[in-house]
Amino acid sequence: MDLNIAGKWAIVGASSRGLGLGCARALADAGCHIVINGRNTGKLDEAARDLQARGAPQVIIVAQDIGSQAGQDALFEACPNPDILVTNNGGPPMRPFEALDREAILAGVQQNMITPIELIQRALPGMKQRGFGRIVNITSSSVLAPIPGLDVSSGARAGLTAFVAGVAKNAAEYNVTINNILPGKMDTDRLRGNLQAQADRMGKSLDETRAGSIAAIPAKRFGTADEFGAACAFLCSSHAGYITGQNLLIDGGLLGRAF
Ligand SMILES: NC(=O)c1ccc[n+]([C@@H]2O[C@H](COP(=O)([O-])OP(=O)(O)OC[C@H]3O[C@@H](n4cnc5c(N)ncnc54)[C@H](OP(=O)(O)O)[C@@H]3O)[C@@H](O)[C@H]2O)c1
Repeated sequence: MDLNIAGKWAIVGASSRGLGLGCARALADAGCHIVINGRNTGKLDEAARDLQARGAPQVIIVAQDIGSQAGQDALFEACPNPDILVTNNGGPPMRPFEALDREAILAGVQQNMITPIELIQRALPGMKQRGFGRIVNITSSSVLAPIPGLDVSSGARAGLTAFVAGVAKNAAEYNVTINNILPGKMDTDRLRGNLQAQADRMGKSLDETRAGSIAAIPAKRFGTADEFGAACAFLCSSHAGYITGQNLLIDGGLLGRAF
């Protein structure tokens, strides 16, 4: 299917690796110009070469913390008029509730709620004016089903979800959509780090912990960044203009809900 977005400009936050890169790769396949972001320049250079090889006409690197004012300024200096915005960021570390202090809670809310809202605030007016915009927030399955130890992440992302639900309604008449994609267990550095922490806590090997985690997933495997990216690119396509305010769960059936 031609997604009909060749030549559009996309800002993809936190995209040097993992799910962000998966989204950038799928948008590159669709012929978009892409601004990628992360803090490690080596990883960004590698990602940029990958995207260029896939056919992205222009790739711009913004090596900055996406949560900082300077980082956000740099993203929008690189691409003042994005047609597509994928908000993504690192997630808070796993931490027991008892170990959370005010600073850690505020940092998580800043990271996974306030930062995406700030990016949307910058992108939305121009999108509405131009009559096309696709915004996708990468959140988490923990918005729907809690994951013990990731309470800050769940709360911040649920806050973002509720916040943008109303924003999406106001943007719809301008052909601007806002949707969230909720990853379950996707095979990235983040998941590998969480599995290692779990293995250390339980005194088990990484292989055993990984196998136990996979066994609980109906699809019997972890998801890939590329299949996640393909879903994101569809939501960013011209065909998805009537899909807004939705939460797309990509979890291989793990949550087991009827609706
Ligand atoms: N993978 C899963 O199974 C899963 C499940 C649920 C939710 N999630 C959430 O989905 C998001 C993406 O996950 P992932 O698995 O792709 O993570 P990942 O493999 O750890 O990749 C994170 C990406 O974000 C960048 N990044 C992190 N902090 C940044 C910052 N402050 N400014 C700019 N870039 C930053 C990293 O690059 P640098 O380190 O170079 O900055 C990297 O490119 C995270 O919020 C994660 O919590 C993931």
